[in-house]
Amino acid sequence: MTAFGQEWPEPARRAITGLQELVGADEGGRARIALAPGRVNLLGGHTDYNDGYVLPVAVDRRVTCAFAERAEGMLEFVSLDFDDRFIIDPRDLPRYREDDGAFERLAGGRENRWRRYAAGVALEMSAAGLPVPAGLGVIAGDVPLGSGLSSSAALEAAVYLALSNDRATPEAALLCQRAENRWAGVPCGIMDQFASFMAEEGRALFLDCRDLSWHNIDLPAGTAVTVVDSGVRRELAASEYVKRRQEIETALTILRKVAGPLPALRDLTPEVFAEVDDLLPEPLRSRVDHVVGAIARVKEGVTSLALGDTVRFGELMVECHQSLACLYEVSIPELDRIVELALTVEGVFGARLTGAGFGGCSVVFHDNECAEALRQTVTDGFEKNFGRRPPIHHLRSAGGAGVWSVER
Ligand code: GLA
Repeated sequence: MTAFGQEWPEPARRAITGLQELVGADEGGRARIALAPGRVNLLGGHTDYNDGYVLPVAVDRRVTCAFAERAEGMLEFVSLDFDDRFIIDPRDLPRYREDDGAFERLAGGRENRWRRYAAGVALEMSAAGLPVPAGLGVIAGDVPLGSGLSSSAALEAAVYLALSNDRATPEAALLCQRAENRWAGVPCGIMDQFASFMAEEGRALFLDCRDLSWHNIDLPAGTAVTVVDSGVRRELAASEYVKRRQEIETALTILRKVAGPLPALRDLTPEVFAEVDDLLPEPLRSRVDHVVGAIARVKEGVTSLALGDTVRFGELMVECHQSLACLYEVSIPELDRIVELALTVEGVFGARLTGAGFGGCSVVFHDNECAEALRQTVTDGFEKNFGRRPPIHHLRSAGGAGVWSVER
């Protein structure tokens, strides 16, 4: 059992074993094994839904969907991590799309959110006119949950590839984003799904979220990415995320009256913003200030990274964190403290919160050599302040999602 010419990663081994146990060895046949990574964003925070730029890296934590297709019958998903399963009728998907009650019964309560992502992908495939097969999909992952590392996007991507046997494409990322927007009720931008599908190993993905053009940039040799988990689950994330999006819409309505056609904040240059910013009441002024600065920082950061200027790149990460904390107000004391502690370690270039904020992880970009010192300093300092030791993950950058067909 190999992928990438190496052993399957741990969640794939679990999903494959789970599938074999459930299907029964005597049935034989082939299975599709889809793997999709989580991500950390090095620069760009809340810029994607403003038509701006982002710079994520896919990481070696993945969700797997091991899928045995059947000629007919039902489509069943089993989650090994949540010890939960549900069944959906692939011939009757429009019914779930049209009848809220039917979808709610299928998706169950809050604790079953994974169902919304998996079922949402099937529903969006059928809405796009793509065939949805019958069969059994067994899902397992090792992307930490609720940590801002995009376990949901990885789940969507794995389910999509397992069901469709398609290649990783920008269209697939858009379909999975629609699944999350419509069926999980999270109005996320395109960054997470795009990174999970299109990232390349050893590289950061520079994405223009307006036209979805992208290119991958080599991470300088000897650099590494570590995430430190605040341990705070992002309870507020969904509601505050929606609130930020509404604030941006309100700000745009005001700005359009004076600044003319303004499709998105991407079109507001720092110079024009400086002329009109006093028209915006707080906190709208601060919100816009963050987005305008964050977009400019990604552009500069891409050049720094390409030139191997890790020092300037790190400074931009820290500026981004400060802006997310003070202007966009999506940080928490734990995330701020991790950043502060990390910056005291020699060999650390920069640190910032990753994902939507309100909990989850801070990401540290550093020289490979200082990994141990970083672990020590952050663990000790964090424990002193908060009385517990934070989980720390040293991550490797990974390639985007893929699907492999194997003999069962
Ligand atoms: C979440 C969303 C993304 C993006 C980030 C903030 O991860 O899913 O689309 O908006 O927050 O940068």
